[in-house]
Amino acid sequence: MSNNVNRQFRLKSRPVGKIKTTDFDLVEEPVPTPGPGEAVIRNLYLSLDPTNRIWMSDMDQYMPPVEIGAVMRGGGIGKVVASNSDAYKVGDTVSGLLGWQDYYVAGPNDEIPVGVLPAELPVGLPTMLGACGLTGLTAYFGLLELGQPKAGETVVVSAAAGAVGSVVGQIAKLNGCRTVGIAGGPEKCKWIVEELGFDAAVDYKAPDWREQLEAVTPDGIDVNFENVGGEIMEAVMARMNLFSRMPLCGMISGYNTDEPMRGDFSPILMRRINVRGFIVTDFMEKYAEATMELATWVATGKIKSQETIVEGLENAPTAVNKLFEGENLGKLVVKIADE
Ligand SMILES: NC(=O)c1ccc[n+]([C@@H]2O[C@H](COP(=O)([O-])OP(=O)(O)OC[C@H]3O[C@@H](n4cnc5c(N)ncnc54)[C@H](OP(=O)(O)O)[C@@H]3O)[C@@H](O)[C@H]2O)c1
Repeated sequence: MSNNVNRQFRLKSRPVGKIKTTDFDLVEEPVPTPGPGEAVIRNLYLSLDPTNRIWMSDMDQYMPPVEIGAVMRGGGIGKVVASNSDAYKVGDTVSGLLGWQDYYVAGPNDEIPVGVLPAELPVGLPTMLGACGLTGLTAYFGLLELGQPKAGETVVVSAAAGAVGSVVGQIAKLNGCRTVGIAGGPEKCKWIVEELGFDAAVDYKAPDWREQLEAVTPDGIDVNFENVGGEIMEAVMARMNLFSRMPLCGMISGYNTDEPMRGDFSPILMRRINVRGFIVTDFMEKYAEATMELATWVATGKIKSQETIVEGLENAPTAVNKLFEGENLGKLVVKIADE
């Protein structure tokens, strides 16, 4: 932890394949002071997300790529430590795109304003990045608004032991659905069934994963919450029912390659599957209400939140690869400083 300098990870080169520490420069700047209308935030927790890899690339994407030489973009939670702004007071806990650094300067020119969190939170700060943060909101809107699950229907979610997937499955259960998670390895599969209450799991790393999928979806699939893409998406689509829904949340299996995603998309036509890509920010105007509902579910134990916490900002570039190697359970967070 650093109180005297502002360590910043600046993007040095666009990764080829897996992210490498050499793709970044770690620079030390003086701790910033706030200009007129600005506030300085001490970053406490950094959210690591598959989209970090997208932002590092110059592929066509939903936000501008991070420029070479710029501080790496990343979501986070911090505390206001100095302020010349009416919007922020010292001691406020805030959340926003604070970047891979120790301190962030918030101000009126922020493209996406940093938000002030309520003084009393029903859950811990890491959970405010996970089940009760953008992660939970992604699961909430993707499943409920786009997936339109009905009681008794079969919902399948890939990357089911990850941040978004673990919440999707639990919300689907709250809605009375039969819930199937696809995850890598027997431990993750056991966890989603025994701890999170999924009805069944498919271990996609097992040689017989296609047979497993068939066995646990005897009535086909009504909602596929897609997080992975590639072969898994193709196999799930092949089992989708007439007029089923497929919220397309992510395609992590392709993020480390420049290859376009290929597959058999004929079920979309033949079974009239409603495929809808989305970014959580599409639902920004409904965040407050949904966050309240997610926080209530977590606080009352209806949804279990899980975080994998890595200590130290200096470890962010290596830790982010955990997402691509399946080394996280639930939400992956870096702890930058003590609260
Ligand atoms: N649209 C949006 O607004 C939005 C917002 C947030 C996230 N997302 C997307 O949602 C997905 C999940 O994100 P998350 O933040 O919740 O991450 P996460 O699921 O916590 O972590 C990624 C997980 O993906 C699995 N995975 C990685 N590479 C894989 C591969 N090649 N094949 C199969 N599984 C693989 C790993 O689990 P296993 O151990 O099971 O392999 C890993 O733990 C990503 O595609 C992400 O881009 C979209």
